Amino acid sequence: MVNTETGEFTTERKRIATPQPATPEAVIETVKAIVDHFEYLGPIGVGIPSVVVDGVVKTAANIDDSWISYPGQQGLVEATGCPVTLLNDADVAAIAERKFGAGHNHPGVVMVFTLGTGIGSAMFVDGHLVPNLELGHIYMRDKKKDAEEYASDRIRQHKGLDWKTWGKNLNQYFRYVEALFSPQLIIIGGGVSKKHEKFLKYVNVDAKIVPAELLNQAGIVGAALAAAGEL
Ligand code: BGC
Repeated sequence: MVNTETGEFTTERKRIATPQPATPEAVIETVKAIVDHFEYLGPIGVGIPSVVVDGVVKTAANIDDSWISYPGQQGLVEATGCPVTLLNDADVAAIAERKFGAGHNHPGVVMVFTLGTGIGSAMFVDGHLVPNLELGHIYMRDKKKDAEEYASDRIRQHKGLDWKTWGKNLNQYFRYVEALFSPQLIIIGGGVSKKHEKFLKYVNVDAKIVPAELLNQAGIVGAALAAAGEL
């Protein structure tokens, strides 16, 4: 649980492994187990690696296809009996970074990218979130593949790319993103952002580019903020 005034955890974190296959029913049951563990009755925020519109999951790039068109928010409300806010995972992480982290009260166009299995992306314009950005799936003419296929941390690990090779891929990617959106600040999150000194030096953009500050707590804190009505 999270104190949404300070961004701090008020309880220990309860972690339950993602069920396999991660169907909506199985994941919702897992969320319910967490709610039961805390004997919790208040508002719940949930981030999911998908486009979410009005509580309905629209895409499933890295999760079970049975999520597509699933009314996830309603399913979670019915299972837990609590009010639930379901949003894209990068959006919730970005909400936390903007409130308590590297983007604190930053004006203008602020973009947040989470480099992990996929590439999560989020954008604020003067503090307003533009939801469901999905820039992990943009295509660059000379790369001829989805950005996640050369710039995600999964690909770095899977292909054994050294930091320089991967850093140069990121450079091409972020220069393209910059040409499209002209952000003033780019925040890099995801577990690998802890090692930012090894790869951010290869990324040469006009925007200020900085590592996220909340690291793997951003998703939880941001989901709690969303549940508390931060949007
Ligand atoms: C999904 C996004 C998600 C990102 C990070 C992408 O594959 O399409 O919705 O935010 O991965 O998890």
